[in-house]
Amino acid sequence: MKRSLRSLVPLGLDGRRALVRVDFNCPLKDGVVTDATRIRASLPTIMYLREKGARVILLSHLGRPKGPDPTQSLAPCATALEAMLGAPVLFIPDPASPDAVTRTKRLPRGGVAVVENTRFHAGEEKNDPELARLFATLGDLYVNDAFGSAHRAHASTEAVAHLLKPAVSGFLMEKELEYLGGALDQPKRPFISVLGGSKVSGKIDLIENLLPRVDAILIGGAMACTFFRAMGLETGKSLVEEDRLEMARALMQQAGEKLVLPRGAVIAEMLEAGVPTRSVPREQIPPGWAMFDIDAAAEQDYAARIARAGTVVWNGPMGVFETPPFDHGTLAVAQAMAAATATGVITIVGGGDSAAAVAQAGLAAKMSHVSTGGGASLEFLEGKVLPGVAALDEV
Ligand code: 3PG
Repeated sequence: MKRSLRSLVPLGLDGRRALVRVDFNCPLKDGVVTDATRIRASLPTIMYLREKGARVILLSHLGRPKGPDPTQSLAPCATALEAMLGAPVLFIPDPASPDAVTRTKRLPRGGVAVVENTRFHAGEEKNDPELARLFATLGDLYVNDAFGSAHRAHASTEAVAHLLKPAVSGFLMEKELEYLGGALDQPKRPFISVLGGSKVSGKIDLIENLLPRVDAILIGGAMACTFFRAMGLETGKSLVEEDRLEMARALMQQAGEKLVLPRGAVIAEMLEAGVPTRSVPREQIPPGWAMFDIDAAAEQDYAARIARAGTVVWNGPMGVFETPPFDHGTLAVAQAMAAATATGVITIVGGGDSAAAVAQAGLAAKMSHVSTGGGASLEFLEGKVLPGVAALDEV
């Protein structure tokens, strides 16, 4: 179990510089943050530290720049944070500049600074100890609240945690680990996982890690078609991973009744908004047509199973949700999960596409937990060790 910010004596935070790794990897348009979900998610940690009189210095990456790139500056995130806090946020453009450390020390108690994009430094993605040493000079203790980046062994997420002590998890990190870890280790049963997305190949580790733990895995998305074909069904023009049919067969055999496939498909001749569609049982996909969503029978089946569950973990859309009407199955799962939450089911949405779909449907607040990490939540649910978590102090 990892040590949390909660375990540090609050009085001991007064006047100390807390170096906090956050994940402010937010979408930008014309230099403005267009979705500040991740910034908002880090507020409990930032506000707590401010209240306790700490000086808060925030580190984050944004995008995947190859060196300094003004279009991927963190300055817009600092502006967005400033508006949320209603207080000034100092921007430190270069942590290597001679006055950077002095500026962190001169912050008022409760003051906040944002350091420029960590990926402007070549050493960040190399987990370079020299860069980590530089980051460590900016704080007196280290807090990692960047769950979304915890699967990266980078200087600001991993190496620095070995150099700056104590190194503890922030409240968002703690909450993510509590929900995702709780689902894997002590799920309220029945434990159901809803898995979608286009490719089985990207979900093998996930299915294998979940199978022994869950009561059922409900499959959606184009990956269902690879299973259909493995069963010997006609799949028309649907996306099928021909080279994974053997593997799909082996997974079905291993899973037995735990693996639930959609009863039917919404099909069309091409993927375009507003094209004529048909709903057919899974045995009746005609040549020349492709599956782009699960059908109403599958939606009802999945909704009923979700309603009876104790815990539901969802990762991956049920159809091509960016192109209506093929968003219907994904929205149906989101609605079923929202309704289930209200009756006491623990509902967890993995980051990435499913989190985006839930946000688009306006249902994020109706889930027990929506993860802020796409890649990180996937790797966690696959049973992998997240380096950014492993490097933190043990209780
Ligand atoms: C994410 O958006 O999943 C995280 O911020 C990690 O970003 P990365 O995939 O560029 O490391």
